[in-house]
Amino acid sequence: MSLVTLTEILTPAEKGHYAVGAFNANNMEIVQAIIGAAINQNSPVIIQASQGALKYAGLEQVTAMVRAAAQKSSIPVCLHLDHGTDFDQVMRCIRAGFSSVMIDASAYPLKENIRRTKEVVAVARAVGVSVEAELGRIAGTEEQIDVSEREAFLTDPEEASIFVRETGIDALAVAIGTAHGPYRGEPKLDLRRLEAIKSSINIPIVLHGASGVPAETIRAAVERGVSKINIDTELRQTFTARMRQILASEPDEYDPRKILGPAREALQRAVEEKMILFGSAGKLPSEAKK
Ligand code: G3H
Ligand code: 13P
Ligand code: ZN
Repeated sequence: MSLVTLTEILTPAEKGHYAVGAFNANNMEIVQAIIGAAINQNSPVIIQASQGALKYAGLEQVTAMVRAAAQKSSIPVCLHLDHGTDFDQVMRCIRAGFSSVMIDASAYPLKENIRRTKEVVAVARAVGVSVEAELGRIAGTEEQIDVSEREAFLTDPEEASIFVRETGIDALAVAIGTAHGPYRGEPKLDLRRLEAIKSSINIPIVLHGASGVPAETIRAAVERGVSKINIDTELRQTFTARMRQILASEPDEYDPRKILGPAREALQRAVEEKMILFGSAGKLPSEAKK
C-alpha cells in the first residue's frame, strides 16, 4: 500500500498498548530486511532515515526504495525523517514524499525549541505529514555525562505538557535515560518520569536509543505508554557481524550478493524479534499480508 503517516500507525498502537519499531535504514538491503520482517510478522512498521542516511544513499533513492517496497504488500509503512535539525531539511523530505518527519530542536532552550517546532508543524499539517519533536536531550553513549548533570538532560513532565500544547506535534521523543549508540553498562531508565510524562500529555511517546536496552526494560516502557521505539545501532551490528563472518570464512568471495544477502537475512530475523518484543507482531488483519 502507499505510505501512511506516523499518526495512522501510532493511534492503534496506543489503543492496543503495544509499540511499533522505527528502524533506521541506510541502504537497499536494510530497507528490504525491515519490510520483509513486517510482512512475515504481520506488523505495521516505521522506516526512518537520518540526515546522514540521506546524504549517504540520496533522498530520492531512499524515498523510491521505501515506496517500492511498501507497495509490494498491504502492510502499513511510514517513511519518517529521523532527527531533522532544520526547517529546510524537513521541507526537502516532505517534498520528496516522506509521510512523517522529526524536527529535533532539542539543543535549543524551550522557547526556541517551541518556535522551531511550530514552524514545521504549520507546514506539515497543511500537507498531511506527521511531526515528531524532542524535548530534553538524548545524548550519545560516547558523551560523558555526570550523574548530577543527568537530571538536567531528562524531559521535564510539566515542560512536556507545555511543549505539546504549544506546538501541536503528533509524537514526543523523551529523554528518560537512554542514549544513542552502544551502551557501556546497563542503561538505567527513569520509569517514574516516563509515567509522569505519560499522564501530562495526550500524544504518543517515542523512545530513542533503544539498542541494547534489555527486553524487560523495553516491556516496562511499553507498559507505561511508549508507542514508538527507535533502533539503529543493533541493526548495524547484526548486519555487519554477518558480513564479517562471511568475509572471514570465505575470503575469496567477491560477489557482493553472497555477502550482503546473508547479512540481509540475519537483519530481517533481528527485526522480527524486535517486532515480537514490542508487541506489534500480528497486529494487522491477516489479509494485510500478501
Ligand atoms: O539517532 C541517530 C541515528 O542512529 C542515526 O545515526 O546519523 O549515524 O545515521 P546516523
Ligand atoms: P540506537 O542507535 O541507539 O538504537 O538509537 C536509534 C535512534 O534513536 C534513532 O533515532
Ligand atoms: Zn534518536
